Amino acid sequence: MGNTWFFSAICLIALACNPATESQITDLQPAAEAISNPNGDSELALLMRAMTVYMEQAKDSLEQGKGIPGCPEEFKRLTEATETEGMIKDRNHFNAYAEQWLSDLDQVCQSKGKGQLQAYERLRTSCLNCHQSYCQGPIPKIQRLTVQNP
Ligand code: HEC
Repeated sequence: MGNTWFFSAICLIALACNPATESQITDLQPAAEAISNPNGDSELALLMRAMTVYMEQAKDSLEQGKGIPGCPEEFKRLTEATETEGMIKDRNHFNAYAEQWLSDLDQVCQSKGKGQLQAYERLRTSCLNCHQSYCQGPIPKIQRLTVQNP
C-alpha cells in the first residue's frame, strides 16, 4: 500500500495523472508542463478522456430529461488498455475496479427514467472509487460530473 501512496502523490503533482519523472518531482515543474506529457499518452489515458467526454454528454442529456446517448463497446478495453508506465502495480487489483465500473455502465444502459439517473450517479461513484486508489488528480473533475437539478 506504500506504493499506492507514492503514485497517488505523483498524481497530485501531475494533474492529468501522468506520472512525473524524477527530475520533475525534484524541480516541481508546473502541472501544465506535466499535462502536455512529452512521452505521449497511454492507451488508458486516451480511453479515460473518451470516458470523460461520454460522462459529460450523459450528464447534459440526463439534465435535459433525456436518456443517455448510447453505450460504447470500446470501454470494455478498460481491463486491458496499456497504462502509463508505473501507474498500475497490480493489474488484478485494478481490474476489480474496472469490472465493477463496466458492470455499473451496464446498469446505466439497461435502466430508464429516474432509475437511469440513479445508475449514472453510481457509475460516477465507481469512477471515484478507482481514482481514490489509483490517481487522485482527476477527482475534482469527476465530482463536477454529478447531475444538477435532476
Ligand atoms: C479501474 C480504475 C479507473 C476507473 C474506473 C476510472 N479511472 Fe480514470 N484513470 C485511471 C488511471 C489508472 C488513470 C491514469 C491512466 C494513465 O496515465 O495511463 C486514469 C486517468 C484519468 C484521467 C486523466 C487522463 C489524461 O488525460 O491523462 C481522467 C480525466 C480520468 N481518468 C477520468 C475518469 C472518469 C471520468 C472515470 C469514470 C467515467 C474514470 N476516470 C474511471 C483509473 C480509473
